[in-house]
Amino acid sequence: MTRLQGKTGLITGAARGIGLEFARAYLREGAQVALADIDIERAGTEAARLGNAAFAVEMDVTRQESIDAAVAATLAQFGQIDILINNAAIFTAAPIDEISRADYARCFEINVAGTLFTMQAVAKHMIARGQGGKIINMASQAGRRGEALVAVYCASKAAIISLTQSAGLNLIQHRINVNAIAPGVVDGEHWDGVDAFFAKYEGKAPGQKKREVGAAVPFGRMGVASDLTGMAVFLASSEADYIVAQTYNVDGGQWMS
Ligand SMILES: NC(=O)c1ccc[n+]([C@@H]2O[C@H](COP(=O)([O-])OP(=O)(O)OC[C@H]3O[C@@H](n4cnc5c(N)ncnc54)[C@H](O)[C@@H]3O)[C@@H](O)[C@H]2O)c1
Repeated sequence: MTRLQGKTGLITGAARGIGLEFARAYLREGAQVALADIDIERAGTEAARLGNAAFAVEMDVTRQESIDAAVAATLAQFGQIDILINNAAIFTAAPIDEISRADYARCFEINVAGTLFTMQAVAKHMIARGQGGKIINMASQAGRRGEALVAVYCASKAAIISLTQSAGLNLIQHRINVNAIAPGVVDGEHWDGVDAFFAKYEGKAPGQKKREVGAAVPFGRMGVASDLTGMAVFLASSEADYIVAQTYNVDGGQWMS
């Protein structure tokens, strides 16, 4: 399988979870991949395991100088960036009367501003290079509708869907396709944190929320990161050249739109 042969991808938040699985899939398809993460130690360990076509780079998406340095380091390593996945994000949750400004600001800085300004930095390179590109933003079913205890994270993911539309419309003139993936519930360390939150606020036993959400998925189970890689490869490939500003649900049937 070499649908991404000769391409270079930059994936944020790739030290673990979905981003790491995307890196594995892109490498299998013949791409070179920069694994960008604030957790450089873990990104480095994973990149070393993945071999020579993988490169770990430190990036804190909340700091412009860190974004710029990571993009420059990726260009120094590979010479080009054809694909960007804005995957880094954090989950936060609280009832409305307990949301703090600090939590709100941190979530929006990472999930929304991080996505916007990483997209901007990479788009500048893609525009200057003049060979187009593919940008994939990670939205969520949480961006499709609010949830009683998850106001801030849901709003941040709704913002990703909107940013994907605006950036998609603006950048297609440069043959840069901007689209998004909206997963449902995907098992992994991220969801361990979600489960712990619901254990606290809904008085559930550890693991109970996970079992409940898995059983409620029409497909019959929670997703796993590899359920998302087909869409991530497709959107990065030339097969998706005519797809602009869309958000695709990959969620086992959770949301229909
Ligand atoms: N897991 C799910 O159920 C689920 C569902 C819908 C959407 N998503 C989205 O998919 C994406 C990946 O989710 P995941 O489950 O793999 O999450 P995860 O928490 O396992 O991984 C997130 C990664 O982002 C990194 N990160 C955090 N802050 C950063 C920063 N400031 N700069 C750079 N990197 C930073 C972390 O170190 C981590 O490696 C996220 O955008 C998430 O919102 C996940």
